[in-house]
Amino acid sequence: MRKPIIAGNWKMYKTLDEAVAFIDALAGKLKETDKADIVICPPAPYLATLVEKSKGLPVRIGAQTMHEEVEGAFTGEISPTMLSSIGVEFVVLGHSERRQYYNETDESVNRKVKSAFEHKLTPIVCVGESLEQREGNATADIVSDQVKKAFSEISEKDAATAIVAYEPIWAIGTGRTATAEDANEVCAQIRAVLTDLYSDSVAQAIRIQYGGSVKPGNIKELLSMSDIDGALVGGASLDPESFTALAEAGVNV
Ligand code: PGA
Repeated sequence: MRKPIIAGNWKMYKTLDEAVAFIDALAGKLKETDKADIVICPPAPYLATLVEKSKGLPVRIGAQTMHEEVEGAFTGEISPTMLSSIGVEFVVLGHSERRQYYNETDESVNRKVKSAFEHKLTPIVCVGESLEQREGNATADIVSDQVKKAFSEISEKDAATAIVAYEPIWAIGTGRTATAEDANEVCAQIRAVLTDLYSDSVAQAIRIQYGGSVKPGNIKELLSMSDIDGALVGGASLDPESFTALAEAGVNV
């Protein structure tokens, strides 16, 4: 069985005090475990603090995006070596909000995935269709294309350690979750694409998360599905009680 991975994507929420209070609140709730990977992706200014604060807790830290270059004249950007130098282990790449508002494309996502692996960061590669695409029965084509492009020229060895997050855009922040069956169907399609790109054993190793209005009330059913190995959670990851419930669902699959 693949180890479940529950990741909280805080987006652009919380002050530093709130972020620290969140980790303090988790300290009393989350027990050490090797049954699931629990990740928090806070806003960039808090990454270093939360890496330090989460030591000794079953929580690892991820960034929400990064630039593909190591350094250069790219005002406002954050490089992979900056992230790895402060102990960040994961990076969310190609989130639909980055694609929509910051012009990220399949090609730039692929460059970032390559760079993440070069610098020992585990990418959480986001893919997903819009409502229009779903209603036009284009989900499988769109998502397959995104996966193929994101993994272009990525070695088998690296690919096997990647995380893919299937996040239908119409389910993000809307309260509208895909049914567990629909979400699983697309996750299984993603695994089939990965089997074609690599091999059955590599595709079986890659963890595929579902994201889009995941909350304590629906996570168990999602995680019970054959091809859903975790969740990427926005809104419901902001509250320590709710995040703990999500993390526990991952531990108890
Ligand atoms: P949501 O966001 O859980 O608030 O729908 C998910 C995401 O954007 O990763």
